[in-house]
Amino acid sequence: MNEFTEREQITTNIYEDADRACGFVADAIERLLRERQSQGKSAVLGLATGSTPVRLYRELIRRHREEGLSFANVVTFNLDEYYGLEGTHPESYRRFMQDQLFDHVDLDPEKTHVPDGTVEREDVFASCRRYEEKIEEVGGIDIQILGIGRTGHIGFNEPGSGPESRTRLVTLDTLTRRDAARDFLGEENVPRHAITMGVGTILDARVVYLLAWGDSKAGVISESVEGQPSASIPASFLQLHKDCVFCVDGGAASQLTRVRYPWLVGPVEWSPSLVRKAVTWLAQKVQKPVLKLVDEDYSENGMADLLTERGSSYELNIDLFNQTQHTITGWPGGKPGADDTNRPESASPYPKRVLVLSPEPLDDVSCMGGTLHRLANQGHEVTVAYMTSGNLAVPDTEVRRTIELIIELGEGHEDQAEVSFARCVQRQLEEKGQFGLDTAEIRRLKGLIRRGEVRSSALMLGLTVDHLTFLDLPFYEEGRYRRFNVGEEDVNRMHALLEEVQPHQIFVTGENHDPLSIPALCFGVLRDAMEKSSDSEWRASCNVWLYRGPGGEWEAHEIDMAVPLSPSEFENKIQGIYQHQSQRSQSPSLAKNGAGNTWNVASELNHSTAQVYDQLGLPEYEAIEGFKKWSLNR
Ligand code: F6R
Repeated sequence: MNEFTEREQITTNIYEDADRACGFVADAIERLLRERQSQGKSAVLGLATGSTPVRLYRELIRRHREEGLSFANVVTFNLDEYYGLEGTHPESYRRFMQDQLFDHVDLDPEKTHVPDGTVEREDVFASCRRYEEKIEEVGGIDIQILGIGRTGHIGFNEPGSGPESRTRLVTLDTLTRRDAARDFLGEENVPRHAITMGVGTILDARVVYLLAWGDSKAGVISESVEGQPSASIPASFLQLHKDCVFCVDGGAASQLTRVRYPWLVGPVEWSPSLVRKAVTWLAQKVQKPVLKLVDEDYSENGMADLLTERGSSYELNIDLFNQTQHTITGWPGGKPGADDTNRPESASPYPKRVLVLSPEPLDDVSCMGGTLHRLANQGHEVTVAYMTSGNLAVPDTEVRRTIELIIELGEGHEDQAEVSFARCVQRQLEEKGQFGLDTAEIRRLKGLIRRGEVRSSALMLGLTVDHLTFLDLPFYEEGRYRRFNVGEEDVNRMHALLEEVQPHQIFVTGENHDPLSIPALCFGVLRDAMEKSSDSEWRASCNVWLYRGPGGEWEAHEIDMAVPLSPSEFENKIQGIYQHQSQRSQSPSLAKNGAGNTWNVASELNHSTAQVYDQLGLPEYEAIEGFKKWSLNR
């Protein structure tokens, strides 16, 4: 422990990325397994499902295949299971574990345990007791792996769960159900109940590793680690465990005091970006415009050393004011003929070839619809590439409506290809029922529905429909949420597009997201494709601008380019968003903290960035879209 980690009540290791964190946990598991093997004993693992541990399981499978790590002496207990789902259901946790780990290693199927989601209601209590007894019979859990939900849940112990709770039937929180809506193709399909080990059951494990990736988990991580243990964040009870380690990436660590406000906890190296972050924070904390901050504000808020280093608040204030002011531009593609010394983007060449990458349809307009409009209006050659079709997020009801339309139109022309395709999809929909997997034909139609929405949204923004590209990356077309696997063909398609467009500017998202999320996977595809283009001439002068991504916006100190929107431009953007009709009740990732929906989250975010700029003493705008510059050589 040191002054930086003093506030942290749980050992927290911050890793450069999820793979490194998983390597650390896989090492611990490997040590345990080998040690027990040498003693002729079994090892007991407590396992979690969800996106978070998938990379850990992939690493364990790799070690099994390539390094002979055996699981023959392993007994496993999973944390939870949806109540009412058969183990064969595609979204059941039993099935998930089979797909993601059990079927790929030499585990004895008899030694794998997942709570039974199919027991009759009156037998649930006894079944849960029996689960606990089985754990005791094998000597307790040696290593428990956990993820964490945005409600602060571990297992399915939602807020309100106490440290004594044991395995039981629970009701799922609204936010948890919304987070699962994509997996179940609609919130209405997500089970309302689950069986979960209790917090007490988890605390009994000898060693606990909690994993978390991406900044959507940052808030609950800091509350669990630095807050008081409380039932409102069940993961905070892990503070009561003497051998628990949180293994997180930079995104998930970003709200810890040592990362967010390091100057409050100890001496820091005042780099330019840290000064910007600290002074922006100070102005917001004391609720003053930057230019009105005085020496006392600095010294009373843990920044006396900065003051001494820089001489006076006047210098610091003016520096930050200028820096922030220089981020603002109504010319996101650069202003032709203007002096660009203090502008975020270069004046020439003009017009620019601009490539906007949208991981799924709608991400582009909801995050940068105003900027897109400006780029197109200002004469740039804008190509928008939709990296995935987004077909997994289309509810069946939309497909039914489209099919009925085609069938009605084709009355009397039953032999037409479109009509027989529609009839075929109609049959497949009936056969698949509420939880079945979409066939290739259903997915195709769903993809087409989204293409139609993209086109009408693009027209609102003044984009040329010919410049819309649908990459339909295979990792998505062949995969399902939380189980995507990016391959060579994905990168090749992206690389071909880059070479075709040869962009001067790229807009993209996905940095710092959960590594298995669609934006993060797409960002990885771009990074690898850019790597392939490293010798191409266009690359040397291409600027990459990051938009924050669905459901989030950069904080003021992170923004390198702030594009202000007037009320009418903002209204136009909202109209663009409205064209994505199939997403009315979808995109849970856009809904922040359980409130809001696709439509109003984007507007809240853009308004609040504008308010922060206003509060800092910069001009008052209706809305702002923010971008961060990404360095290719990182
Ligand atoms: C899953 C489980 C849950 C998840 C949590 C995070 O067995 O117990 O607590 O760990 O909901 O889910 P992901 O990893 O999908 O973000």
